[in-house]
Amino acid sequence: MIPGDGIGPEVTAEAMKVLAAVRQKWNLDLTPVDFPWSADHYLQTGETLPDGALDDLRENYEAIYIGAFGDPRVPDMKHAADVLLGIRFGLDLYINFRPIKLYAEHLSPLRGKGVADVDFVVFRENTEGAYVGVGGIFKKDTPEEVAVQEEIHTRKGVERILRAAFGYATERGFSKVCMADKSNVMRFGHDLWQRAFAEVSSDYPQIEASHLFVDALAMQLVRKPEQFEVIVTNNMFGDILTDLGAALQGGLGMAASANLHPGQTSMFEPVHGSAPKYAGLGTANPMAAILTLALLLDTLGHQEAATAVEDAVGRALEGGVTTADLGGRSSTSEVGDFLARATVGS
Ligand code: NAD
Ligand code: IPM
Ligand code: MN
Repeated sequence: MIPGDGIGPEVTAEAMKVLAAVRQKWNLDLTPVDFPWSADHYLQTGETLPDGALDDLRENYEAIYIGAFGDPRVPDMKHAADVLLGIRFGLDLYINFRPIKLYAEHLSPLRGKGVADVDFVVFRENTEGAYVGVGGIFKKDTPEEVAVQEEIHTRKGVERILRAAFGYATERGFSKVCMADKSNVMRFGHDLWQRAFAEVSSDYPQIEASHLFVDALAMQLVRKPEQFEVIVTNNMFGDILTDLGAALQGGLGMAASANLHPGQTSMFEPVHGSAPKYAGLGTANPMAAILTLALLLDTLGHQEAATAVEDAVGRALEGGVTTADLGGRSSTSEVGDFLARATVGS
């Protein structure tokens, strides 16, 4: 458990209530262990991700759960880069799996679109692209300043996220995978995506493989979200599209994500950030964090518990037990209490 900054500790605390209830009901051997890594901790000690932490996490833990990072006192996000991106890259969690699911009709921001229309998953490449931090600044703070920020796309990295998307579609009985890039402009990096996509998709003839430029995909997601089942894209486009996706679900308070490397220790975090404006007010929506716990449970093989958590969220939405972002009047901890009880049916 890495609660992190801002609303991170508040929503994490609610997810822990649900985990406690789940552990008891299903007799799960899952013990949460807290790690203090946050902006506070960094400002007090200078420590971000300590030496040896990645090996410890990889070898001694079944899963990592993160609340959120981001604090106005650390404008360069040094601690988040080290801890969050450090874990994604360091543990080679190449799949950022972000389901976009509308849990209740009344949360839909789109006229005429309901729960049957918004239900797809995004496979975001999570270890390369624009996130590699390769580049530099030349003649800084002069009128001649030059900044270079590279995108890196490797054949191995692109191919494995494409295979993950097609593999998931095949296993879960989906029939379509859509790949998004900007290969009309990014003639090198995204051309590699095009060629890898042609090759990988030919190994899955039963899956309908389509392509959209990312700008057109953004438009289609708003116009006709029901046409999508599995979307696969690069790191930066996946980041942007999944905030759009969160809006289709009723907001960032509803969007969950998993950072996966099948067979290895994976990391789970809501899509939202630390929402500093709302920190400490007890008004943040814990549902994204709690649905993230459901993803964790599902990944560790506890399907029944994971489904129970999701169903509980559905009941809270039906009953109007929600925070203000969803139009309700409940506090963060009231929603968490409700979900903990509803998950175990008491
Ligand atoms: P944000 O996701 O923190 O918040 C944007 C807005 O979304 C909030 O102002 C709020 O209106 C709403 N929101 C988000 N989560 C909510 C919740 N649980 N309940 C109710 N409303 C919620 O994004 P931001 O304001 O752009 O970024 C704030 C900080 O978080 C920045 O430092 C940013 O870098 C960081 N960030 C971290 C992560 C992460 O840790 N994974 C993700 C995104 C942003
Ligand atoms: C996310 C966040 C992160 C990202 C930031 C905080 C580094 O926006 O998880 O979506 O860009 O991946
Ligand atoms: Mn993001």
